[in-house]
Amino acid sequence: MTAAQLSPVLKQATGVVAARGEGVLLYDEQDRRYLDFTAGIGVTSTGHCHPRVVEAAQRQVATLIHGQYTTVMHRPLLTLVERLGEVLPAGLDRMFFANSGSEAVEAALRLSRQATGRPNVIVFHGGFHGRTVAAASMTTSGTKFRSGFAPLMAGVHVAPFPDPTHFGWPVEQATDFALNQLDYLLQTISAPADTAAFFVEPVLGEGGYVPANERFFAGLRERADAHGILLVVDEVQTGFGRTGRFWGSQHFFTDARADILITAKGLASGFPLSGIAAPAALMERAWPGSQGGTYGANAVACAAALATLDVIADERLVDNAAERGAQLRETLQTVGDKFDAITDVRGLGLMLGVEFRDTAGKPDGATAAAVQREAARRGLLLLTCGAWGQVVRFIPALVVTAGQIDEAAGIWSDAVTAVL
Ligand SMILES: Cc1ncc(COP(=O)(O)O)c(C=O)c1O
Repeated sequence: MTAAQLSPVLKQATGVVAARGEGVLLYDEQDRRYLDFTAGIGVTSTGHCHPRVVEAAQRQVATLIHGQYTTVMHRPLLTLVERLGEVLPAGLDRMFFANSGSEAVEAALRLSRQATGRPNVIVFHGGFHGRTVAAASMTTSGTKFRSGFAPLMAGVHVAPFPDPTHFGWPVEQATDFALNQLDYLLQTISAPADTAAFFVEPVLGEGGYVPANERFFAGLRERADAHGILLVVDEVQTGFGRTGRFWGSQHFFTDARADILITAKGLASGFPLSGIAAPAALMERAWPGSQGGTYGANAVACAAALATLDVIADERLVDNAAERGAQLRETLQTVGDKFDAITDVRGLGLMLGVEFRDTAGKPDGATAAAVQREAARRGLLLLTCGAWGQVVRFIPALVVTAGQIDEAAGIWSDAVTAVL
């Protein structure tokens, strides 16, 4: 008898076999300690195995694991909806839940099309919305997410994202360009009457940790209002305090908000849970029964999400993300200033990226990967992102301490020095 093996289709950023986790720390099977600045791709918001999350989940496991939500209701879900009302932007008071970010993106897509009766959506170049066919069709952060399983979903059009580094322009110029091209697209390719929604990330995630800006979001809101197009913010990675505000879009909206907000990742500290929020009048235009699923809003995941909300509030984790993010950014900038190959340090809160370019100014994924591997060898786990893999990203749990930031910055500095 031979043992089965994992498919090579799975690529792994580190060679670590994780045995246990505690806050920002991960330990492998030999009990080697790592500073985990990946947080399960921005998921373990309260850290690995926060005692209050563990306690809530354990209690729920012993009470009710699966209260299938199109068959019965359960209290953790009902309470979670109420509690999310306290943190969601005003007016987004109807929620639907699923398991993954991709599923929630699809739920938002289905709602947008059903509510408007329009077929098309416009996404912004460099955006990542997931790996299922519809979500991959809306993803433009790299061909690796789209290639080899065409045909993709029809009805997706792509407008520029205001990415100053990519264009090599000041942010104002990049924003003018992005909004002008959006108008051109609406005039020449996808008429407003055919356009259901704009889907946008407040900070490009997989696309390279590029923040949007206030004027761009105001421009999207204005055009959405003018044409009856829905504005959907994908807060799968930027939500739940990650950027130093509860929602990433709160950096850019002054007195406006999105029509649909998508959340996942940090919501349940590692349990699979995602959701969309929209105003009642919009949700009521979805076709009843058109959304659902076997596992959505799992009771244990909802209990973990409730504990996550408590921990975020009681431990002031949104403020911590802003404060520790500022500390990390400063140290990354200090290291960056010493090396020509580091051309940008950017991001919001604890969602920070360091970009590498070669001497010709081209994105340098090979060097970014070498530094990421060297850091892992030295005990700091990081991920890369960006179309060429040229950005190393830092997304520690929101419980990260000043001492852990200092320790990570020291390892980072050594790793960069060893490679460059
Ligand atoms: C902005 C954004 N949207 C959607 C997704 C897809 O989420 P999932 O991997 O849970 O399907 C991700 C995942 O990284 C993401 O960052």
